[in-house]
Amino acid sequence: MEVIITASPVEASAQAARIAAGVVRAKPGAVLGLATGSTPLRFYDELAGMHARGKLDLAQVTTFNLDEYTGLGPQHPQSYAWFMREHFFSRVNIAPERIHIPDGLARDIPAHCAEYEAAIRAAGGIDLQLLGVGSDGHIGFNEPSSSLGSRTRLKTLNERTIRDNARFFASPEEVPRHVITMGVGTILEARRCLVLAFGEAKAAAVAAMVEGPVTADVPASALQFHASCTLIVDEPAASRLKRAEYYRWVYHNKPEWQRV
Ligand code: GLP
Repeated sequence: MEVIITASPVEASAQAARIAAGVVRAKPGAVLGLATGSTPLRFYDELAGMHARGKLDLAQVTTFNLDEYTGLGPQHPQSYAWFMREHFFSRVNIAPERIHIPDGLARDIPAHCAEYEAAIRAAGGIDLQLLGVGSDGHIGFNEPSSSLGSRTRLKTLNERTIRDNARFFASPEEVPRHVITMGVGTILEARRCLVLAFGEAKAAAVAAMVEGPVTADVPASALQFHASCTLIVDEPAASRLKRAEYYRWVYHNKPEWQRV
């Protein structure tokens, strides 16, 4: 895994946005896997800024979001569909028919999940998957103990994630208990993964993901098997990495052609 330690979330997000923009410029019909949460907000700002300056055309891009709460429709302000519209889709030119987010109101959830997987395949697979990390090491909503081969499916949130995400709701009781999420296996099939993590609250999860054993106890650790995964963190999120100096050394000694 490539680990890039940056001075701030602003710098990390700018770098991540340059990577994503590079993918789209090289392949205008690229398929992007998108994430929610507070972590990618600046990343979306950066991409929207590039678009506003006429530097990034997303007209042919297809997107698949990682996850959605069940029971919340796209008009619910805490739904991820709402989040994506508010923070990204309303600011760029992605064709609405090429935007995919799991349907939190799907009646037949297993059938909907199978269709979601089929839609990803039909689009040619995900070229770049953006990811955040939960403080418990989850990716998407794959909580600890998720199968590392899992596919898109219904998951039950654990109490820690409910607590972490309660800040967006009026009370923890309002956080849905169930979600639809791409599986770890689904995520691992993306051609490239780009993970962002900021702040000290993520330091333990980041260390376990990068340097710990690969285990379902830390679903993000499965990314150690990914052939092309870049993690961009700020200093506090990097604070528990044993090999931080080495990662900095690698970055500073990158050959010119590898730089973004
Ligand atoms: C949620 C999302 C994840 C996200 C995580 C971290 O649980 N399902 O995709 O990575 O939260 O959120 P934040 O970025 O707000 O710390």
